Amino acid sequence: MNKTLLIIKPDSVKRNLIGKILNQIIDAGFNILAMKMVWFSKEQGGEFYAIHKGKDFYDWLVNFISSGPIVVCCLEHPEGPAKLREVVGATDPKKAAQGTVRNLYGTSVGENAVHASAPDEDPDREINFFFGEKELFEY
Ligand code: RTP
Ligand code: MG
Repeated sequence: MNKTLLIIKPDSVKRNLIGKILNQIIDAGFNILAMKMVWFSKEQGGEFYAIHKGKDFYDWLVNFISSGPIVVCCLEHPEGPAKLREVVGATDPKKAAQGTVRNLYGTSVGENAVHASAPDEDPDREINFFFGEKELFEY
């Protein structure tokens, strides 16, 4: 099974959408291997999103991701990170396909409800950022 990382971002947590989003993820066939609620410091947010350093939205993004609690989940699915990106939808909720998480719950290109590991941006690094190997449940 292919592992990936989902983050329910502060906008969704504040709007009480954790349950609805997790339901949708589970209905799409994902298993939850590990999950926790954390509140990033600015330093942790900056380190997690280091790949975006230098981009015009980086400072905004670091502030946003550390603006309230987030829920981080290590997931598995036979089609792995690519499947999660499909369920999550495009970065901009206005462009996200009908019924995707961001189409349903995102409110702007920045406040887009969730993060999903990009298949080509080392999902294992993102999983290891939060969880040790022994914390991952085996179904
Ligand atoms: P994510 O990493 O959160 O799953 O999102 P993504 O791959 O679809 O998009 P990415 O390009 O990696 O951007 C990371 C996050 O930065 C915010 N963003 N804001 N204002 C903007 O133009 C802009 N562009 C990106 C979003 O929160 C995006 O998810
Ligand atoms: Mg990304």
